[in-house]
Amino acid sequence: MELNDTIAPIERPADEAAGAPPRKVFLKTYGCQMNVYDSQRMADALAADGYQPTEAIEDADLVLLNTCHIREKAAEKVYSELGRIRQLKADRAAEGRETLVGVAGCVAQAEGDEILRRAPVVDLVIGPQTYHRLPQVVRKARAGEKVVETEYAIEDKFDHLPALREKAVRSRGVTAFLTVQEGCDKFCTFCVVPYTRGSEVSRPVAQIVAEAQRLAEAGVREVTLLGQNVNAWHGEGPDGAEWGLGQLLFRLAEIPGIARLRYTTSHPRDMDDALIAAHRDLPSLMPYLHLPVQSGSDAILKAMNRKHTAADYLRLVDRIRAVRPDIAMSGDFIVGFPGETDEDFEATMQIIRDVSYAQAFSFKYSPRPGTPGADLAFHIDEDVKDERLQRLQALLGEQQKAFAASLVGTQMDLLIEKPGRNTGQRVGRSPWLQPVIVDEKAGEIGDIIKVRITKAGTNSLFSEPV
Ligand code: SAH
Ligand code: SF4
Ligand code: F3S
Repeated sequence: MELNDTIAPIERPADEAAGAPPRKVFLKTYGCQMNVYDSQRMADALAADGYQPTEAIEDADLVLLNTCHIREKAAEKVYSELGRIRQLKADRAAEGRETLVGVAGCVAQAEGDEILRRAPVVDLVIGPQTYHRLPQVVRKARAGEKVVETEYAIEDKFDHLPALREKAVRSRGVTAFLTVQEGCDKFCTFCVVPYTRGSEVSRPVAQIVAEAQRLAEAGVREVTLLGQNVNAWHGEGPDGAEWGLGQLLFRLAEIPGIARLRYTTSHPRDMDDALIAAHRDLPSLMPYLHLPVQSGSDAILKAMNRKHTAADYLRLVDRIRAVRPDIAMSGDFIVGFPGETDEDFEATMQIIRDVSYAQAFSFKYSPRPGTPGADLAFHIDEDVKDERLQRLQALLGEQQKAFAASLVGTQMDLLIEKPGRNTGQRVGRSPWLQPVIVDEKAGEIGDIIKVRITKAGTNSLFSEPV
């Protein structure tokens, strides 16, 4: 049995045995895809312990916030939400109903018991590496104890992923995330992730293959491998050979039913030859690559501790495009890192023009307590950051639009994912991750069909079956 297939057995409390209505959990997720994945796992673990999910926070016996610490705004959002929850808890208490409030995720890991001081409404705090203890932590909190659970041993790191229940997978559709790696040793000077998610740990091949097989058996057609530094994943192949993400992708591509593979997020320094070869040789590896560069200025890249230059990045993109010409590039950018001059910013604009991105995420630098960047001199004024971000986003927006427009009239495979917003429609994803709308008669959810793109809208493409 895999390590992560076990949740410690828990005795049923008397009120559940007596047939009291099931408890309800409201889970709110902030931040990255890994939090989305973790929230599903937490919901699974709690379901096994008698908690049903609810979308209505006022019905919840347990409110759990799965939080993000990446920028100040993300972290502060949690406290304003906790302010609202305080009122809710008081209202429910007036009706004689108890509400437990929990903070999970990266704010939990970064701030620990400080959260209890700032927000006394909170009953439990649980870090991302200790989710396997969630049911026990909830029990303790229910018994009236304030619980802070953020300590873990590195060798237990992948124990924290509770079992994947087939029923839960089935209800979630035809695409799924699969965490293969967690944590980061890169220590970019702006970033909290090495502190909130700990050092880099790779999940063993057998665990990953078993989970992918379970997903495929439950009807999942597209799997996105997740990791804070997913392409730093490494492991031992069945033959004892050292594997990187490239070899792992080849193995996963053999699983019947899995038609599409993706991975995110990659660091430029970990794009090795085997991974580039996978883009050349694996038809099921989708032609889309999220490869953040953050800045186009060598001085800023150095200050960020990215350990590569702009030219290194451009050469890498050339090598990938040489083997997979239709690959769409996606990236992350930070404007206003301490010391960023106008010239540095123009270099970022230039690398965007040189690469041409199909999709991108961009942010104003946010100083994070405890990171080396926060202590640097020459912080950039907020209005300069605003102006730079606006110019950068305008350029990225044009590129995204041009990319979508270039697909009009072409044919492509479409994985049908779910009903569309309007009746008679279904929505799927293009190989390049764009939402594509098609008539519901074109195929069933989970089908991969050939379509022709008829029109590019602002956020999605329109298509007709061929
Ligand atoms: N592990 C991924 C992404 C981590 S966070 C990677 O290495 O690329 C996602 C993005 O948030 C980063 O790529 C970066 O662009 C942005 N980000 C991280 N810390 C930030 C900060 N302090 N201020 C602004 N943006 C930040
Ligand atoms: Fe953060 Fe850098 Fe690690 Fe990405 S590579 S998670 S940006 S420290
Ligand atoms: Fe945020 Fe933690 Fe993800 S800080 S971006 S939720 S790894």
